[in-house]
Amino acid sequence: MKISVKESIVKNLNEDVLIIPVFKDTHNTETLFLELDNILNKLLTQTIYENKDICEEYKLNLFYTPARIKLRRILLAGVGKIEEMDQEKIRLLAGKLACFCTSNSMSNVAFLNFGYSLKNIAIDDATKAFIEGFLLGAYSYDELKTKKKEDEKKNKKIESLLIIPQVSSDINLIENVIKEAEIICRNVNLVRDLVNKPSNILTPEIYAKLIIESFRKSKVKVKVMEFNQIKKEKMGCIIGVGKGSEEKPKLVLLAYTPQKSKKTIALVGKGVTFDSGGINLKPSNYLTNMKDDMAGSATVVGVIKAAAELKLPVKLIGIMPLVENMPSGSALKTGDVISAANGKTIEVENTDAEGRLILADALHYASTSKPDYIIDIATLTGAALVALGSKCTSIMGNDTELINNLIKAGEETHELAWQLPLIKEYEDDIKSDIADLKNLGAANGEAGTIIGGIFLKHFVGDIKWAHLDIGATVWASKGNSYNAKGATGVPVRMLVKWLKSL
Ligand code: BES
Ligand code: ZN
Ligand code: ZN
Repeated sequence: MKISVKESIVKNLNEDVLIIPVFKDTHNTETLFLELDNILNKLLTQTIYENKDICEEYKLNLFYTPARIKLRRILLAGVGKIEEMDQEKIRLLAGKLACFCTSNSMSNVAFLNFGYSLKNIAIDDATKAFIEGFLLGAYSYDELKTKKKEDEKKNKKIESLLIIPQVSSDINLIENVIKEAEIICRNVNLVRDLVNKPSNILTPEIYAKLIIESFRKSKVKVKVMEFNQIKKEKMGCIIGVGKGSEEKPKLVLLAYTPQKSKKTIALVGKGVTFDSGGINLKPSNYLTNMKDDMAGSATVVGVIKAAAELKLPVKLIGIMPLVENMPSGSALKTGDVISAANGKTIEVENTDAEGRLILADALHYASTSKPDYIIDIATLTGAALVALGSKCTSIMGNDTELINNLIKAGEETHELAWQLPLIKEYEDDIKSDIADLKNLGAANGEAGTIIGGIFLKHFVGDIKWAHLDIGATVWASKGNSYNAKGATGVPVRMLVKWLKSL
């Protein structure tokens, strides 16, 4: 979708639709609105006057224009009360508009931008939220549908979005906002694409190739550590988890090194392309969506790609162990003891707690380059759904300031997160009788998400670290207007926002 900004009068518009936001407590006084209202013999103002419902949040009303103007349709988009408006409401409205335009084959869309009557939200933030909601709302995963071409004829994809500023002085500001929102949303949608892919077309091998491909034109360096090198690095956990599968594990490394950078951040992402549970095979209903168990690693790809495209002045290292967790005659067995790259021995009490194992090696590897921060992102526990539900990521770590800043960034992008405490009372739960650690907590499974965090803490050394358990937020089973059913792309926008704040 091409997005542009240009001042326009009715005569110049030939789009399929012009979207005009309407408020419950403010009249539309934009020149373009008044001009159209005149052409329509006051139909717009009169309808709004007679039916205030039109301005309620998320209400859409379509008007057809007379043949003498090129603009085909006008869509009044209800925003509700101006002082109750926030960025998330704008995203939701824009998502709804993108869905509406797609299903009505409106491929060229114009939007009369918000103006200075906005009360508690700046013009650039409002515009950015609109573009975000629109780009994310227009996303659909359809690369595997053979009927795609026919469907496209019925539901034409949106090709262009023209933003019409209310004052010409906004143009520069809006141009910058467009650039940034396009980069971020393109990468969120890339992550959604990767996570939505079934595991037979996203094996560790193919995934590594796709990562190389997506950075082909970029300054980011990609290195794929193959099985032999993983062995040389003594990454016994990655090898152990991958043992049951026909697919060999890989460790993909990314490096973004801008000329100027004050901080170095290591991003570590869980990349289990399919989690069957291994010998502790998951029951059928828990197996359903286990292709999404690589979402942490996809987030690392999306964030580093966005940061490089935005030319952010921070050095980034990406570390992504890619494996398939399968049961077989060669699979890891319960009670086996394996050694992580830092030398610690781990008794495998449950082969389905594989994420923390591969992350043990990856986190240790991250800590050896002594970054300022390590952040890991992982679909680590189903218990995260019980703890905070599907709308809130569980965040843990060893540095309160880092955690609070991530939560704050997530509030701004509406990718909510909340801290769970890594209290020392649970530390003994992962002590093994025969090895240094075991990969499971107390037998009753209590504090499952916290136990995952406590385990990972053993592998980050003294580096400031945060762990984002996206086990509950990775996938939308219902979705909303800008986040269709399926992979959510959470928490790409949060992490980019945080990186920008450094
Ligand atoms: N990938 C799962 C976690 C998960 C489950 C994410 C459901 C999203 C939805 C992880 O590897 C796992 O199986 N965790 C176990 C841990 C347990 C064995 C301690 C779990 O959550 O049941
Ligand atoms: Zn598992
Ligand atoms: Zn898993």
